[in-house]
Amino acid sequence: NLHTTIGSFGFDNVLMNASGVRCMTAADLDKLADTVAGTLITKSGTPEARTGNPSPRAAGLPFGSINSMGLPNLGIDYYIDYVEKFQEKHPDKPIFLSVAGLGPDDYHVIAKKIQASNFTGPTEFNLSCPNVPGKPQIAYDIPTTRRILDDMFSFFTKPAGIKLPPYFDLTQFDDMAAVLNDYPLTFINSMNSIGNGMAIDPETDTTLIKPKGGFGGIGGTYAKPIALANVRAFRLRLRPEIAIIGTGGVTSGRDVYDLILCGASMVQLGTVLGIEGLGVFQRLTEELSAEMAKKGYTSISDFQGKLKTL
Ligand code: DHB
Repeated sequence: NLHTTIGSFGFDNVLMNASGVRCMTAADLDKLADTVAGTLITKSGTPEARTGNPSPRAAGLPFGSINSMGLPNLGIDYYIDYVEKFQEKHPDKPIFLSVAGLGPDDYHVIAKKIQASNFTGPTEFNLSCPNVPGKPQIAYDIPTTRRILDDMFSFFTKPAGIKLPPYFDLTQFDDMAAVLNDYPLTFINSMNSIGNGMAIDPETDTTLIKPKGGFGGIGGTYAKPIALANVRAFRLRLRPEIAIIGTGGVTSGRDVYDLILCGASMVQLGTVLGIEGLGVFQRLTEELSAEMAKKGYTSISDFQGKLKTL
């Protein structure tokens, strides 16, 4: 039994896609909905549709991936329309809407649109895209993050979470958790890709991707220990009512299990879903179930957050 909850929403499986991977179009989203995943999330919608950065803009690496997509998406209106229709058709499967601003003011515009829509499911506000040239990852700027949340929660009454970048110093977790605990967040998602890594083709001495001179977000196995630390660090600091979606470095059922041990309530698949395809949900469901059986566990709550330390 892999049932889990985020706020008042229930899901039959802890697994779902990470935003950005196989979720751009209605056809992509329909296919995700047909897997054993507990639910799905849209590509981050921005106020206007975007074509994104020039190609090549994503590449596989020996232990993961690098990307600088630049938020290509069909626009917030397209995704609001999709999730409104989805919730009519599948009242038993709460779908996540992902949205992103190019700057702080966009979040106001976006939140107003969602508030005015018929969508009642959870929205993930992406505060951590590393790939739009000239735009910082907002959630590395704590005062700006607080300003966005202050404004948003002055009128937004629907379930909301935010997608965070990885942090690396324990004081960053202290400072960000102190901000997050001041707001009625339903969840956080930790973490987004590790911003501004680089990969080089040894034959040509050239960067593997074109945007931003080759800098791009790193995902996959490279990210696993950082994701575990981020989920754990936030679970130790956030109010228990704020659920954590764990994202980063999953390629096996044991990786899913480890994120849950650190406190995740759901686990998202990014790089591995991009590389392996939709069958990864069935494989990892089986591997996670086997890992739980080995430990004598029959439900997620048997081990969620129960990491031991020396
Ligand atoms: C994009 C990439 C990301 O890793 C992310 O979190 C958001 C957006 C992108 O470039 O589209």
